[in-house]
Amino acid sequence: MKVLVTGGCGYIGSHTILELLKNDMEVIIVDSLINSKKDVIDKIKKITGKDVTFYEIDLCDKEKLRTIFEKEKFDSVIHFAGLKAVGESVEKPLMYYENNLISTINLLDLMKEYNVKKIVFSSSATVYGNPQSLPIKEDFPLSTTNPYGTTKLMIETILKDLYKSDNSFDITILRYFNPIGADKSGLLGEDPNGIPNNLMPYIVRVAVGKLPILNIFGDDYNTVDGTGVRDYIHVCDLADGHVLALKNKKTGLKIYNLGTGKGTSVLELVNTFEHVNNVKVNRQIAPRRDGDIDACYASNELAKQELGFNPKYTIEDMCRDSYNFVKNN
Ligand SMILES: NC(=O)c1ccc[n+]([C@@H]2O[C@H](COP(=O)([O-])OP(=O)(O)OC[C@H]3O[C@@H](n4cnc5c(N)ncnc54)[C@H](O)[C@@H]3O)[C@@H](O)[C@H]2O)c1
Repeated sequence: MKVLVTGGCGYIGSHTILELLKNDMEVIIVDSLINSKKDVIDKIKKITGKDVTFYEIDLCDKEKLRTIFEKEKFDSVIHFAGLKAVGESVEKPLMYYENNLISTINLLDLMKEYNVKKIVFSSSATVYGNPQSLPIKEDFPLSTTNPYGTTKLMIETILKDLYKSDNSFDITILRYFNPIGADKSGLLGEDPNGIPNNLMPYIVRVAVGKLPILNIFGDDYNTVDGTGVRDYIHVCDLADGHVLALKNKKTGLKIYNLGTGKGTSVLELVNTFEHVNNVKVNRQIAPRRDGDIDACYASNELAKQELGFNPKYTIEDMCRDSYNFVKNN
């Protein structure tokens, strides 16, 4: 199978490519490098010993994207490309709507034109808004609290409408919970341009002294220790979920949560990180952030049943591998 991976130089995309190559799939990457670096390509080659084809293209440029559809004949698409920082999306909503929506519409339009009908899309647990009960199942009501989340929900709606209009499309929407960790090689990991937005890249940067202190936003949530609870999943388990989605025999429009089903609080994560890596992470309690919720974790039963999804890494593994990546880089 030949797969077009949009956003393949990014964190989840690059790890997924390792799994695709291990499964003897051929990979074409399109990435604008707005939040990643080109050296990821060499690292992928170093780890796997296999070649990938890379095009530096912004998906918002439809005519440039068309040249890839003309040149490369692929069977399926995994669509990771998008901006993902919640806070930035509140400050710059138009940038988020433009980048995430226009790129996706261009991609889908060209897929239709060139008769490429299989797509796996990166959605997020953020589309569940503030869930009324836990664990979160795929049929829970959807709502969002920020422009980033709204772009994900809008794209889900676009995909559903597209499928209604043309049911020869084979669409898988994967709603990720909180990916952390890194490939064992220590070469690939979460390496955002600028100050990290997610918790784990922040923790590791404090641990290695690149940032002074970790702010823990809120210690009065209704959770085990007052700090927010999330469902952290190793990025390699998440990557595996994409290969399973491509190999899934079930066609049509499918939606799966990709999480472990276990909640971990911020303090539990920081303490585990310190313990397994034998390092100190300076932290302080800061006020709650707007839009943050007490707790969020997945029911992954559907993905287990229909995809054979079976996350195997522990929180300890995730903390060890995240630190290993930053120490090596
Ligand atoms: N990391 C998370 O916590 C998380 C959680 C849920 C969903 N997601 C979604 O998963 C996807 C991948 O996330 P990630 O963590 O790997 O992010 P990332 O920022 O590391 O990777 C995204 C990649 O897309 C590229 N990109 C962005 N806009 C582009 C455009 N218009 N054209 C071409 N390339 C473009 C970036 O340069 C980057 O390499 C994103 O869509 C994100 O919203 C991520």
